[in-house]
Amino acid sequence: MSTRPRTPAPSTPAPGKLPLPEVGEMKRRGDKIVMVTAYDAPAARLADAAGIELILVGDTAAMVMLGHESTVPVTLDEMIFLTRAVTRAARRPLVVGDLPFGTYEVSDEQAVASAIRMVKEGGADVVKLEGAGRMVSRVQAIADSNIGVMGHIGLTPQSATKLGGFKAQGRSADAAVKLFEDAFALQEAGAFAIVLEAVPAPVAARISRALEAPTIGIGAGAETDGQVLVWHDLLGMYAGRQPRFVKRYAEIGEEIGDALATYAQDVRSGAFPEEQHTYSIPDEELARFEAKLREPAR
Ligand code: KIV
Repeated sequence: MSTRPRTPAPSTPAPGKLPLPEVGEMKRRGDKIVMVTAYDAPAARLADAAGIELILVGDTAAMVMLGHESTVPVTLDEMIFLTRAVTRAARRPLVVGDLPFGTYEVSDEQAVASAIRMVKEGGADVVKLEGAGRMVSRVQAIADSNIGVMGHIGLTPQSATKLGGFKAQGRSADAAVKLFEDAFALQEAGAFAIVLEAVPAPVAARISRALEAPTIGIGAGAETDGQVLVWHDLLGMYAGRQPRFVKRYAEIGEEIGDALATYAQDVRSGAFPEEQHTYSIPDEELARFEAKLREPAR
């Protein structure tokens, strides 16, 4: 069990904002925590209206928003730009700003400096970073700077090459014990919650039961304390390869495609715009306009 106090966010939360300690309280009450990624203001507004507790401005933005093949290329400046758009619209949900690859690995000082930028410039309520081992010290340094920090273990996409690809983790007894120990180390370092990605359900359940900090699962079964899905995956808006843990709740991509094709057809056939989409001008003003055009140029 943790002996470290959970770290509050440094600034005074905006009115109506979910207090960070409430995330831990939800686990204690047995209430499931819902997190979704979002990368712009309209998405944040919809997630807020749906009563979702946590919005992750994930570095998955690199793939689903910016067209990269992996999460590695996205920069801190790009993540801050997207986070700022989300924080403008998210009233109640806590906004988690993901620290991208290369912005925290070098030193604790680098991690704290990046986290501060994410909070100060991006307006994030808290930050997230991937990994354990040397990253435990980064989590502790950020938490000690009074910034709430979420951990992320299991399949950590920023280090997918080292892990041998986008594969489930913790599938041997030794690997599962290592995950268990990593989760505890992150909790002890001050992580207020931990994402478990692509971890066998019984292993994730065992870790979740043992930890005081909530676990947020993605491909980690039903017994984590919360779940997260990527916006474009859950809404059917991503054309790339989809992991088996994704459930598509809508086919918005198809709907958008159909709408765009109909729009293009309407423009080409003259069916759009109609009378109701245009502005009028009084007849006498139109007549004066025509008369003025006929006047000889001065
Ligand atoms: O960047 C992201 O979207 C994530 C989730 C998949 C947890 O880290």
